[in-house]
Amino acid sequence: MEAKIAPSMLSSDFANLASEAERMLRCGADWLHMDIMDGHFVPNLTIGAPVIESLRKHTRAYLDCHLMVTNPLDYVEPLGKAGASCFTFHVEASKDNWQELIKRIKSRGMRAGVALKPGTPVEDVYPLIEDENPVEMVLVMTVEPGFGGQKFMPEMMDKVRALRKKYPSLDIEVDGGLGPSTIDVAASAGANCIVAGSSVFGAAEPSQVISLLRKSVEEARGNN
Ligand code: DX5
Ligand code: ZN
Repeated sequence: MEAKIAPSMLSSDFANLASEAERMLRCGADWLHMDIMDGHFVPNLTIGAPVIESLRKHTRAYLDCHLMVTNPLDYVEPLGKAGASCFTFHVEASKDNWQELIKRIKSRGMRAGVALKPGTPVEDVYPLIEDENPVEMVLVMTVEPGFGGQKFMPEMMDKVRALRKKYPSLDIEVDGGLGPSTIDVAASAGANCIVAGSSVFGAAEPSQVISLLRKSVEEARGNN
């Protein structure tokens, strides 16, 4: 269970995505978090497989794709071809077909993750972690999905604590409102994969924020 710091490219200059990605990697990012929204599951529209494919031509980075879409199954093949590294779908959008989704994601050579919105109980993802073909990461949303720059919801830490207690070596990602003032709460609850958009891109020195986030996760892990 390593610390993974994943700047959210939603806060980058989309007109210069390749150089923004390169800049984040130089600043110490482990992963690049790519927010894919369909304007239906969430009230915002961002990027899709063609942009991932274009970016892939410029970087070998781990592309951590967060699918805020109503029909995630439709995106598996295009994103696999485009070169996504991880495909995280929402549990709310995969009630009937998560087993099929996980199978197809893995067969396309991607890691499979599941995300849950603030209003969704943590128990809803347990079957996906305990299945014989399980997800490899759980993303606990700490804001309502759709937009960057929102306020961190500390009450979501109960979910992170419950997951960490039950699954000591699971990758647990948090997304929304993470930055220097909220990281300690998330790290001590047990999160090890940290998405951060506005706090990283808005900083004068993104590398300092990234290393601070990493240090907090590593210290918390040492204390557990
Ligand atoms: C929100 C997205 C996040 C967002 C995080 O729906 O899933 O990844 O970019 O941005 P910040 O860190 O600014 O809250
Ligand atoms: Zn996200």
